[in-house]
Amino acid sequence: MARRKKIYEGKAKILYEGPEPGTFVQYFKDDATAFNAEKKATIDGKGVLNNRLSEFFMKGLTQIGIPNHFLKRLNMREQLIRQVEIIPLEVIVRNFAAGSMSTRLGLSEGTALPRPIVEFCLKDDKLGDPLVSEEHIIAFGWASQQDLDDMVALALRVNDFMSGVMLAVGIKLVDFKIEIGRVWDNDFQRLIVADEISPDSCRLWDVETGQKLDKDVFRRDLGSLTDAYTEVARRLGVLPSNVTHATKPTLIN
Ligand code: TMP
Ligand code: ASP
Repeated sequence: MARRKKIYEGKAKILYEGPEPGTFVQYFKDDATAFNAEKKATIDGKGVLNNRLSEFFMKGLTQIGIPNHFLKRLNMREQLIRQVEIIPLEVIVRNFAAGSMSTRLGLSEGTALPRPIVEFCLKDDKLGDPLVSEEHIIAFGWASQQDLDDMVALALRVNDFMSGVMLAVGIKLVDFKIEIGRVWDNDFQRLIVADEISPDSCRLWDVETGQKLDKDVFRRDLGSLTDAYTEVARRLGVLPSNVTHATKPTLIN
């Protein structure tokens, strides 16, 4: 059997050539990094959980008409996705101050923002993904004004969906990051949600206790990351409620 072609390897995922033109296979690794890969670990079961969680969120987006790259989950760690041309920007939506916004603006973590705030960071590891303004984006040609308008609209729709889904299971969506890709249908280009949506790229706090259920558990050494992600999956019904740990072999069916 021919070895499949690796298209790209990132910090948490690998992309392989898909079975048909215009598709990729996205493989979720157990690797976790923080602070621009200064901190690294392998966390048993993280890839399995993120594959399932990203599937869950992307399918939910599809159900309410928000276009995204997800086609089909293939197995525990892999999903079939639509090939896109990634726009080199991280699109962040914040509902409450936390992380770099708290540091930058001196707001205590958890402060409610007057409205959801969309930020853009340039995807460039060497530069540490710096915050950029819409002026920079247009002037340097990373995206057009139309793309920007579409990205903001998409990001806010994702925020509405994700906030509702999470609140229903007692979790506050503090902020999240998405990546957006370009696809062509004949001569028309469209923007769709790509990459992943998982606790790696969101801040999720328990509504009652404020307990962190996202990658900050790893960034800030707050305990078991797998336990936190398993809890999110369990509440969403992505894993059967009698399962207590994602690495158990009975988990994925
Ligand atoms: P920040 O507060 O560190 O800027 O992060 C904002 C959101 O973006 C948070 O939910 C975590 C997510 N994020 C990523 O997904 N990847 C990254 O590289 C960074 C820095 C943040
Ligand atoms: N993307 C960051 C890194 O590579 C991780 C993060 O803080 O989310 O290390």
